Amino acid sequence: MKIVILTGAGVSAESGLGTFRDKGGVWTKYDLQEVATPEGFARNPEKVIDFYNMRRRNAAGAKPNAAHFALARLQAEYRHEVALITQNVDSLHEAAGSEAIHMHGAHGQARCTTCDARWTAPLVMSLEDTCPECSATTTRPDVVWFGEVPLYLPEIAEHLHTADLFVAIGTSGTVYPAAGFVAEATGAGARTVELNLEPSNVAGQFDDVILGPATETVPAWVDQVLQAD
Ligand code: OAD
Repeated sequence: MKIVILTGAGVSAESGLGTFRDKGGVWTKYDLQEVATPEGFARNPEKVIDFYNMRRRNAAGAKPNAAHFALARLQAEYRHEVALITQNVDSLHEAAGSEAIHMHGAHGQARCTTCDARWTAPLVMSLEDTCPECSATTTRPDVVWFGEVPLYLPEIAEHLHTADLFVAIGTSGTVYPAAGFVAEATGAGARTVELNLEPSNVAGQFDDVILGPATETVPAWVDQVLQAD
């Protein structure tokens, strides 16, 4: 029985990383158009680099929480495939021992817009950073901005079409295509479960909704899945 999991900012909230749309969230303090679009980067690249430097610095001190560890345990111990897809640009799933598909990229990576090379971003990126491959000074954070196509979509589609169980954790169901994954998985015959602090915008599309903080609901759900395995 293949499990496909989608995570969002809520899974990292209890590691001290703010979500986007909750009270006090990132998009209540920053203008998304200015810091998370290709147009914003073209207008004021310095501001965008600073924004991701700030987020990278915050994340550098963060530790994975019980939800990240429970998902890593599920990937390690479950007898069938567990595909983990995340919208998060932090590396807390990896820090907990998981392998995750980062559909919105990773702020720990830099990318050259001239030759497309990727490398580990320094803690503080600068527009003057040179590409290790082609020496151009055309660097940007390797994250997906609004108006850009998320990464790994063919691989993700394949996972959704072969899922028996689809689980969304800590995501508000606001941003597509991720918000449409529940419909895709349902169409492919999967059972669907949402684990979230509050019902998401697409909660009505799930077979089951379990509400509560991820550090409580995720370990409990993983225990249940592994017991039934
Ligand atoms: P949001 O901030 O939109 O939603 C976070 C969700 O997590 C909400 O539904 C909360 O109820 C839930 N939540 C908060 N704390 C939680 C906790 N302790 N345990 C469980 N759930 C909790 O974040 P995302 O849905 O991840 O994209 O946002 C999707 C995308 O929008 C992001 O990847 C980012 C953003 O703009 C880009 O920047 C392209």
